Amino acid sequence: MNGKSLNKMKDKFYVTTPLYYVNASPHIGHSYTNIAADTLARFYRNRNYEVYFLTGTDEHGQKIAKAAQNEKLDSLKFADKMVNRFKDLWQKLNISYDDFIRTTEKRHEKTVKWVLDFLYKKEDIYLHKYDGWYCVPCELFVTEGFVVENKCPDCGRNVERISEACYFFRLSNYQEWLIDYIKNHPDFIKPNSRYNEVLTFLETNELRDLCISRPKERLSWGIPIPFSQDHVTYVWFDALINYVSAVGFSYDNKKFSKFWPADIHLIGKDILRQHAIYWPIMLHSLDIEPPKMIFAHGWWLSPLKGKNQKMSKSKGNIVNPLDVIKKYGVDTYRYFLLREVPFGLDGTFQEEALEKRFNSDLANDLGNLVYRTLTMVEKYFSGRIPEDIDENSIFLNPIIKAIKDLGGRIDKAICEVNFSSALIEIWTLINSANKYIEETKPWNLFKEKKNKELGEFLFILIEVLKKVASEIYPFMPETATKIKEQIKKDKIKKAPPLFPRIQQ
Ligand code: MSP
Repeated sequence: MNGKSLNKMKDKFYVTTPLYYVNASPHIGHSYTNIAADTLARFYRNRNYEVYFLTGTDEHGQKIAKAAQNEKLDSLKFADKMVNRFKDLWQKLNISYDDFIRTTEKRHEKTVKWVLDFLYKKEDIYLHKYDGWYCVPCELFVTEGFVVENKCPDCGRNVERISEACYFFRLSNYQEWLIDYIKNHPDFIKPNSRYNEVLTFLETNELRDLCISRPKERLSWGIPIPFSQDHVTYVWFDALINYVSAVGFSYDNKKFSKFWPADIHLIGKDILRQHAIYWPIMLHSLDIEPPKMIFAHGWWLSPLKGKNQKMSKSKGNIVNPLDVIKKYGVDTYRYFLLREVPFGLDGTFQEEALEKRFNSDLANDLGNLVYRTLTMVEKYFSGRIPEDIDENSIFLNPIIKAIKDLGGRIDKAICEVNFSSALIEIWTLINSANKYIEETKPWNLFKEKKNKELGEFLFILIEVLKKVASEIYPFMPETATKIKEQIKKDKIKKAPPLFPRIQQ
């Protein structure tokens, strides 16, 4: 055996975000999922995994057709225009995706048609007449008992009575299988509150088959159903398939078997049912393994009429990420979203809270540590990083031990998709280094000409900065690079403070 084949194959990590509807510009909620996914992607790349980070846009359906009509544009032209707003924002936020899929792309359309054909042949899709309530804006069939005074239980708008031929997907056949699957895979749906929500729903409701077609005469903007002249595909059935169409399902087996199953689908809690019920059943019916984990995060709320409510365009309480990053910088925004609220819970976006975190965590703790350490290296060692160190005496230093332990602690937090706790671990090191400065009183060592101690002390602080730079990189890539640039091999190159305090 030659050396090469002995090399362990790289592990892969496939992470996805939802595909965002292109009917409106991206807001905080969309950027939250993408920042989280980007952090995971950068983290696993750093740990030497082969990462596939997929994001993209959901471009079919009523919402988009209507938004295009309002602008007097053809649906695809409208989507072409809107997709750039997403791509621009992702670039500004340093979102390092490997693939961006649009549901209007050929590779996707081909795969959706393949799936439809396969399931139709298998008779897991069948034609049936639907008689009942329909909510046009939600594009949803509403169960009889849920309609009160002709209103949709989700959006509160009027529902219509319809009677039409519809292609149904046999969700009901797989209810027992899904319940067993979820019970046997405790990490399949996270956090645990969402796991319980899905399981309870499945155990207390009978799944009804899902109508996966829309008549062309009502809505033509969708992927045509290959075995019908009169129907297009329901937008959710189309969109979910992106997670496999992007990695080659139905046309590139090698790529598909390399990356599937996805390691994690990151979603917001609003789209849990589609991801944790429809999607695994669709995959199972296709004889494909489900993703390893579906993680549903909480909502960013924003004040409206004295109450915190989910941000949405129709309510008019949107926070535009572009305004925030212009005022505070990209890394402050990324840090705030991931640190302020434990991933999985809801949070309220308030500038005062962001400024508070900026001044305490970024200016006071991190920025200050970098600045004062480099100032001391400049002042006491003319900018040269002390090298002549007695390994034995620093070996016992608790900060050196904390540096060594940090990676493992962060690995554990990231495995649990717990960004705030990973950041708290990093800040524990930063703060113990700040405390170490206060306790050591280097200015006295300098006065007393204790050069050896002073050298060791600064060597340890530089080690902290190197470690912090490498561990914050997935969360704050620009800041990490700025710190690294200030610590060259044996010399420092001090720059102005990274986060000058905001006057509140
Ligand atoms: N197109 C569907 C998803 C199809 S996935 C195959 C969709 N799109 S969406 O644009 O309406 O929103 C998608 C996601 O944006 C949500 O699940 C969530 O990840 C994120 N958010 C949108 N608003 C949000 C908040 N206010 N807060 C946090 N995230 C939310 O649904």
